[in-house]
Amino acid sequence: MTPPPGPRTEVLVRVPAKVNIELRVGPRRSDGFHQLATVYQAVGLHDTVGVRSASEWGITLGGRTVAGVPDDTTNLAIRAAAALAKAAGVKERAHLDVTKEIPVAGGMAGGSADAAGALVACNRLWGLDWPLDDLEPIAARLGSDVPFLLRGGTALGSGRGEQVVPALTRGVYHWVFALAETGLSTPDVYAECDRLRDAEGGAVAAPAPTAELLAALRAGDVRTVGGLLANDLQTAALSLLPGLADVLDEGLTQGALGGIVSGSGPTLAFLANDREAALDLSVALIASGAVQDVRRAIGPVAGAQIDPAA
Ligand code: C5P
Repeated sequence: MTPPPGPRTEVLVRVPAKVNIELRVGPRRSDGFHQLATVYQAVGLHDTVGVRSASEWGITLGGRTVAGVPDDTTNLAIRAAAALAKAAGVKERAHLDVTKEIPVAGGMAGGSADAAGALVACNRLWGLDWPLDDLEPIAARLGSDVPFLLRGGTALGSGRGEQVVPALTRGVYHWVFALAETGLSTPDVYAECDRLRDAEGGAVAAPAPTAELLAALRAGDVRTVGGLLANDLQTAALSLLPGLADVLDEGLTQGALGGIVSGSGPTLAFLANDREAALDLSVALIASGAVQDVRRAIGPVAGAQIDPAA
């Protein structure tokens, strides 16, 4: 049952992780960001963001992966809530309870997910009920991936990643994510990409998605999608964490249709043919000793959603 509109005392939102099925990185812009052309997919690994009225901004973190996540007002989720309050002229404050399932500093947009979750949750907490179109500009100022996580599904991202339009897809995509023991900083990976490109010389082309990949997504041709997974940040991530290359090889040897570094890494994303193949691949990756921890998830899933039962 959909809860009635209007202010609430407490709101809980589930928000998914993302994988970049294709990530094309173009030239560095004058603002320091890179032009992107990406195909995002939201996958069923979720953080939850609960919000309740409070006299001060605050955050409590829970879940299995919280190391390194700021537990003060520098946390992007609080910044998101504060940005919405300012834009809407709301004087209230909120306390956030964030339960993390999405790997931290893993290239799956966990911080951006929490920000998207906080926007949707506070939008309801304060009875604003702004449409997503109105939350989007605030989301874009918070981070390049935040607008996509408001919407979810599968989408084309352009600009610095913040401009999203839905992409037509068929079928269910079964992903296996190999988690790394250390994180990678997104700015460091982009800087390494620049360094490697500078060393190589030559101009960097304007980025564009691959037409064949978009056609395969429209057709639900998982095998072809697997063969076309691509990430221009992969060489940089492997340069910073060379051990990832062996794990990628292991996944492909064990039957993945394709494998890539997820976003700026270091999580690796493998696409499997179906549910059974994903299960087999997860077991094989752990048994090989190459990976300590895996997660299975399907895509596409919805973006940030209010939990009606909460
Ligand atoms: O937008 P977001 O806060 O997620 O970006 C984090 C960092 O990643 C930026 O500060 C920048 O170093 C890098 N980045 C980039 N080009 C993009 C997106 C991110 O260089 N399109």
